[in-house]
Amino acid sequence: MTVSREVRLVARPDGEPVPSDFELAEVPVAEPGEGEVVVRNDWISVDPYMRGRMNDTKSYVPPFKLGEAMDGGAVGTVVASRAEAVPVGTTVLHGLGWREYATVDAGSVRAIDTTSASAEAYLGVLGLTGLTAYAGLTRIAPVKEGDVVFVSGAAGAVGSVAGQIARRLGASRVIGSAGGPQKAARLTGDFGYDVAIDYKEGRLEERLREAAPDGIDVYFDNVGGDHLRAALAALRLHGRVALCGAVAQYNAAGPVPGPDNLALAIGKRLTLRGFIASDHADLMPELAGFAASIRTEATVVDGIENAADAFLGLLRGANTGKMLVRL
Ligand SMILES: NC(=O)c1ccc[n+]([C@@H]2O[C@H](COP(=O)([O-])OP(=O)(O)OC[C@H]3O[C@@H](n4cnc5c(N)ncnc54)[C@H](OP(=O)(O)O)[C@@H]3O)[C@@H](O)[C@H]2O)c1
Repeated sequence: MTVSREVRLVARPDGEPVPSDFELAEVPVAEPGEGEVVVRNDWISVDPYMRGRMNDTKSYVPPFKLGEAMDGGAVGTVVASRAEAVPVGTTVLHGLGWREYATVDAGSVRAIDTTSASAEAYLGVLGLTGLTAYAGLTRIAPVKEGDVVFVSGAAGAVGSVAGQIARRLGASRVIGSAGGPQKAARLTGDFGYDVAIDYKEGRLEERLREAAPDGIDVYFDNVGGDHLRAALAALRLHGRVALCGAVAQYNAAGPVPGPDNLALAIGKRLTLRGFIASDHADLMPELAGFAASIRTEATVVDGIENAADAFLGLLRGANTGKMLVRL
């Protein structure tokens, strides 16, 4: 009998999550029933939206259940199959991460082509990460030729890809913000940004004004809070904002105030639009064409026993590029 280790949520955090909110448990791997496959996960994804799923609140994805294994994106290898279409040896993408083995319905896995891209790329630039950046900058806050674009969370998974996409869409100047001098250096050195702002140095609004003296046209918001406030101040007439994430407030223990300058959106005729990447899956083929020329990076943590730490690290900025757990 094969045994699998899985990460369970055992307590709901109030504010920043802590290691004791998680538990590593051992379970026997279920034999596949008719139409099912057993996948040995090779890579699992940890993502900021999972912080929201730790709360018992209604959202666009259901909360994790206490005492049960968490789930999320994973790629792995089929090691047992009772589904003709998905034979043993197939590399697949599926939604039962946070565990070493998953017994799943073959209809809920997607076979992926690893001849031209790595398996883990399907959790990054060829997956929801890339789609988020691409949908945000083509459909939600479309970048036009010559635009000045500002991206927050710019050294992270979505942000490190977004700057390069903005450039390819014709942006004349791409400004990114990230935490700390090393990440700031990576923005201009490796991720195609013209200007990097280390937001931890403070004076964000002033620094953005220096970087874009005539203002910005598009803001891709991964952070919310002070970053959204600074962007609202910098946006030009008819500017567009893709409201992608608000990671600065995911650990807030109580209600957080909105930007106190939101009324600027009226006079500047701004468009602020929220979105969820999975609604834009039709853009995947277009993204695939783009993705080959995009430089990507991953921060890799090894072992299911370190998956919770990888997730906690992600929320504190321990990653550059996509945070992944290799099993
Ligand atoms: N709408 C959608 O469909 C969708 C899909 C995917 C992701 N998202 C959102 O997009 C954003 C980025 O996701 P990702 O997967 O690419 O994660 P990520 O950026 O790779 O990782 C999270 C990053 O957040 C930054 N951060 C943490 N606390 C912060 C704070 N107080 N202020 C500023 N930055 C802070 C850290 O970078 P620093 O070291 O630079 O602080 C950290 O590396 C998240 O808000 C996520 O929820 C939305």
